[in-house]
Amino acid sequence: MATLLSDLVSGATHVPSNYVRPAQDRPNLDQVQSSDHSIPLINLQGLEDSRRSDIIKQIGLACQDYGFFQVQNHGIEEAVIGNMLSVSKEFFHLPESERLKSFSDDPLKTTRLSTSFNVKTEEVSSWRDYLRLHCYPLEDYMHEWPSNPPSFREDVAEYCRNVRGLAVRLLEAISESLGLEGDYMNKALGKHGQHMAINYYPTCPQPELTYGLPGHADPNVITVLLQDDVAGLQVLNNGKWVAVKPIPHTFIVNLGDQIQVLSNDRYKSVLHRAVVNCNKERISIPTFYCPSYDAVMEPAPQLIDDHHPPLYRSFTYAEFYEKFWDRGLNTRSSLDLFKTTSHSA
Ligand code: OGA
Ligand code: NI
Repeated sequence: MATLLSDLVSGATHVPSNYVRPAQDRPNLDQVQSSDHSIPLINLQGLEDSRRSDIIKQIGLACQDYGFFQVQNHGIEEAVIGNMLSVSKEFFHLPESERLKSFSDDPLKTTRLSTSFNVKTEEVSSWRDYLRLHCYPLEDYMHEWPSNPPSFREDVAEYCRNVRGLAVRLLEAISESLGLEGDYMNKALGKHGQHMAINYYPTCPQPELTYGLPGHADPNVITVLLQDDVAGLQVLNNGKWVAVKPIPHTFIVNLGDQIQVLSNDRYKSVLHRAVVNCNKERISIPTFYCPSYDAVMEPAPQLIDDHHPPLYRSFTYAEFYEKFWDRGLNTRSSLDLFKTTSHSA
């Protein structure tokens, strides 16, 4: 029996039963909306000078209305993005024995190849293999990363440095869009964490029966997602699932649960999911920008007044993160566990 999905199902004509979702929890792909303007597209050119206030306004509106946006002219070179995508694909095309050197089913391991979401706790599996890496500070983790393909560590490290720079700039803009000091969010995260997943979604003979990833909100602060040219990401907006069409060299940014806490619900983390298809494998690479485990998360005092009482209690990110992995990808958010009692739903 193969450990990873890609080895289990190559050539399969049916989805194995443990990947089949119950009838009331299927993607209903024919009901998904798709348009060229699914989520806002924001041009970051001039963020540090002439266009700053205009761009911050756009980011604020996108955070409020969608919790998701795409960014162009973000300053990361096409070669850095191209190398990241190609070395990721090369990794997942290595022989099984070579890939399995990184395998672990322990969610707390800092470098690990795994499958589905949390194979120890979930009832139905998801159509995905993934390599998770911790990426900040780089020198603490790079030596754990796969050394095959030979350029893996170098290409991924270069990508991580660049995405971290972008995440810091975005968090400054998001802080300012809430009327906070530019460095408020970055300071609140303590020493910071940066994790990455390289998601590999093999082709699927019956995509209407399963998910690459079921609907979930990300537990971190913001996620900066790179995807190849195959569609699969869908975002919940006004109660409808909307497909996000890939645009080359564009990143997708989404708000995670900690922004919802820090902003005291002014901004919300948004449900999203990945679906699969029968024609093309897909790679997506989310960077999860996080607080340090010991950072204390709580609503920003500047956003609290008599009309806006704090909706969450203080907690450490370590406490939150552990609950997230244990609970699995439920549509009921882990955030509910941290609501102040008088406001819990
Ligand atoms: C994730 C995620 C979306 C995608 O890994 O958290 O939401 O398109 N991925 O793969
Ligand atoms: Ni996600």
